[in-house]
Amino acid sequence: MTASLATVAYIGATILFILSLGGLSHPETARRGNLFGMVGMAIAVLATILGPRVTAAGIPWIVGALVVGGAVGLIAAKKVQMTQMPELVALMHSLVGLAACLVGFASYIDTSVQFTGAEKAIHEMEIYIGILIGAVTFSGSIVAFGKLSGKIGGKPLLLPGRHWLNLLGLLVVIWFGRVFLQAHDIQAGMLPLLVMTVIALLFGIHMVMAIGGADMPVVVSMLNSYSGWAAAATGFMLSNDLLIVVGALVGSSGAILSYIMCRAMNRNFISVIAGGFGTGGGAPAAAGGAAEQPAGEVVSVSAAETAEMLREAKNVIIVPGYGMAVAQAQHTVYEITKLLREKGVNVRFGIHPVAGRMPGHMNVLLAEAKVPYDIVLEMDEINEDFPDTDVSMVIGANDIVNPAAQDDPTSPIAGMPVLEVWKARTSIVMKRSMASGYAGVDNPLFYKDNNRMLFGDAKKMLDEVLVALKT
Ligand code: TAP
Repeated sequence: MTASLATVAYIGATILFILSLGGLSHPETARRGNLFGMVGMAIAVLATILGPRVTAAGIPWIVGALVVGGAVGLIAAKKVQMTQMPELVALMHSLVGLAACLVGFASYIDTSVQFTGAEKAIHEMEIYIGILIGAVTFSGSIVAFGKLSGKIGGKPLLLPGRHWLNLLGLLVVIWFGRVFLQAHDIQAGMLPLLVMTVIALLFGIHMVMAIGGADMPVVVSMLNSYSGWAAAATGFMLSNDLLIVVGALVGSSGAILSYIMCRAMNRNFISVIAGGFGTGGGAPAAAGGAAEQPAGEVVSVSAAETAEMLREAKNVIIVPGYGMAVAQAQHTVYEITKLLREKGVNVRFGIHPVAGRMPGHMNVLLAEAKVPYDIVLEMDEINEDFPDTDVSMVIGANDIVNPAAQDDPTSPIAGMPVLEVWKARTSIVMKRSMASGYAGVDNPLFYKDNNRMLFGDAKKMLDEVLVALKT
């Protein structure tokens, strides 16, 4: 393939990636968006392999790597549970970071292309910055994987003087950058490069360790953004325009997503990065101490009573959360929705931006169960409707419906916008116990006068509600 044909293919792939991002912005067009992305990536890979920079001797290596990498990816994608997706994504980000580091070192020791003067300085700067971003992404993503999979505790690690430590690390990195650029040969440049890599790896670990469990959604999308910048840096090192463009697309869309997530949780992006918010990973609420237990009584109901309340309602809002994903209850939820709608009940869904464990988690599950898109509404679109609602049904959600976020300024989730389910005439919360959610905080909703608890596995209880509704 000639260089100009490869460029045309790269432009085509870039357009497909942009269309892909556009498609992913709505559940209705998400499938098409994915398809555009896949076709774009296939074109990009083929144009790179058949392009002018790959020699015939290199092709077997590339094909071998594609087969191994493709097989690992395929097995991982087939085996992963929906609820483990964020961990897998974090692990994938770490690979992008690792690739940027390896490409950086390889470019530095590669003597086949000789740079001189300003070009040499620019090339070495690309290497230094590329390895820096890659190393932070790599170690940060590994720690994020550990935290999301529960292998590392969710509590933020707050070292004394941690901001000063970070600042010191930054100054040392800048200092060694100067030493690196002034080095006359590879041997002399290798030491500052290695020192910077170690500092960047430690910084990545420190940065994510300092972030509390409740802020992990932001971290995942932030590392997504970093992985994009790491890919763009790799593109600069390899002089590959497509990698630069794609990296910038991923980097900037990840940054926008992080901003949206911060807004959804009413968090300042800088304070999330600085760390310390959120307590940990879903400890039983009772462990928090009886002294802080909200006043009021917990009233439980049966599936038959729940069905009765639903049958009598005119307006129902369903709020799904992580527990619906764990129980795989989305299909039964839709069966109930269909039945109620046939009986003339206005049933809608309220989706919190950080419900579940990844962006769009609930939308994906509801789309899989074929719930019509027009009754699935974002938090901002539906929050004002709760006072006119007869029954709000919370299915395996906790933090996203916690009134303490509004009422208790000392709560770790204070200020996070929540779905105001308690403003409905009756709210029904479906979960297995009184345990807290991801942020590890007690929920006063359970003790409100107009709240009822339907204890049990969401799928099992909803099956019982469905049977009761049919009789
Ligand atoms: P959570 O606050 O984690 O609450 C989920 C609840 O589901 C738990 O309290 C649990 O109570 C219940 N549950 C678990 N398995 C169940 C089952 N089989 N049947 C019925 N209930 C079950 O979830 P949420 O309300 O969706 O809020 C999301 C939280 O995750 C937020 O704190 C958010 O910041 C965080 N987070 C979000 C993301 C993204 S991007 N969405 C990523 C990482 C973290 P029981 O144990 O009593 O059943």
